[in-house]
Amino acid sequence: MKLGIFGLGYVGVVNTVCFAELGHQVIGCDIKSQKVSSLLSGKSPVWEPLVDDILQKQLASGNIKATSNAAEVVQHAEIILVCVGTPSMSDGTVNLDYTINTTIEIAQILSGTNKDITIAYRSTIPPHSVEGTFRPLFDKYLQNYTGKLKLAFYPEFLREGTAVKDFMEAPRIVIGTKESDISELQTLLSYNQNSPVVITDTHTAEFVKYVDNCFHAIKVAFANEVYSIGKCFNINIELANNIFLMDKHLNISARYLRPGLPFGGSCLPKDLRAMRYFSRLHNIEAPLMNSLTESNEKFQERILQKVLSHQKSKILLVGVTFKNFTDDVRESPMLRLANDIIDNSKVEFAVYDEDINLISLRIENSNIVKYIEIDLQKAIANTELVIVTKRYMPEVLKYVNDKHIVLNFADMKRYDSAAKLDYLY
Ligand SMILES: NC(=O)c1ccc[n+]([C@@H]2O[C@H](COP(=O)([O-])OP(=O)(O)OC[C@H]3O[C@@H](n4cnc5c(N)ncnc54)[C@H](O)[C@@H]3O)[C@@H](O)[C@H]2O)c1
Repeated sequence: MKLGIFGLGYVGVVNTVCFAELGHQVIGCDIKSQKVSSLLSGKSPVWEPLVDDILQKQLASGNIKATSNAAEVVQHAEIILVCVGTPSMSDGTVNLDYTINTTIEIAQILSGTNKDITIAYRSTIPPHSVEGTFRPLFDKYLQNYTGKLKLAFYPEFLREGTAVKDFMEAPRIVIGTKESDISELQTLLSYNQNSPVVITDTHTAEFVKYVDNCFHAIKVAFANEVYSIGKCFNINIELANNIFLMDKHLNISARYLRPGLPFGGSCLPKDLRAMRYFSRLHNIEAPLMNSLTESNEKFQERILQKVLSHQKSKILLVGVTFKNFTDDVRESPMLRLANDIIDNSKVEFAVYDEDINLISLRIENSNIVKYIEIDLQKAIANTELVIVTKRYMPEVLKYVNDKHIVLNFADMKRYDSAAKLDYLY
């Protein structure tokens, strides 16, 4: 295919050489003429392993050209990849000036033509940039155009230093678009059968790029903090880290990575407190560890506010132990929610949970016992708002009717129901 690439930085250069290596005819474009001339001389303007070798091979085969003339690129391209920078402003705002300028330039060049073209943004951009910022720019600057213009976001996940491998063996390729047919881009990106192509809406694709990088940052900060504390106990850090990484079931996995309820139970809050104590004991600053309880608290408050926002006078909480198939209510976020509801509103309140052990509840949390209902159907018949925090959703849905509001904190599924369903997300 014929590609045009705007921006010859790390992302643009790697995309230029990799797509050329895959057999496409690529023209790279940068406003900085020295980057263009460097590329044309066979020397990548950014240092990245393997890139110079591929560049020289593909220059010789005629698959790579470069220019500062945007019109030349637009005229050539069936697909344009926008890879210009999106730096941070001092307050964290994303500076979209380069992407906006590129968009206006492309729109002006396309004006008066009938050229079909797909423009895929690779620069990292905030959710809704493509549809909320760039498409309106095309609406404004694209004049007398009779072609078919398609827009997409195609996030780049490569890491500098291993960029070519990351590109060729991408764990997944994401296309965000609202176009009904994005087949040209799909064809271009189905280059490795081990790299699934996910097509989603534009703002989800824009968001997941930020999620990835924030998660990487959390992992790095976590490892540095916990092993700094570990070092004070004379722990062999390499050994401890290897043992931690061995657990692909709970540690290096999707477990604990589903949004839902705050963390609680008999272990996580307690052992986190201990780790924070260790850090204080050894004068190790551990702001990430210290922030986790506060983060959890804020989340617990959001849940309560969501419940109270419905302003119902009869509330049933379905699920009060800290997770499914345990009777443990120690530091259960749901038990805390129950107490917060009782304290914060004058409601007729009830709790249902098959897992609950009434004997231990009587001993440890006698205040809640009087609210326990053992017949779910009856409890639902007597309430207006049902909060579901555990596995009971299918059963709850059997008994609710269109007078009920059901607040689903149990999972992320969207359920069909006669009742009005509400979610935290
Ligand atoms: N560097 C990475 O590892 C990486 C990885 C994934 C995503 N990203 C994202 O990709 C984008 C690009 O990152 P980068 O590191 O390659 O940036 P970069 O700063 O290295 O390169 C951007 C290039 O765009 C050029 N440019 C600016 N305006 C232009 C225009 N109107 N026409 C043509 N060229 C123009 C600049 O001269 C510069 O050479 C950013 O949004 C970044 O967040 C970067």
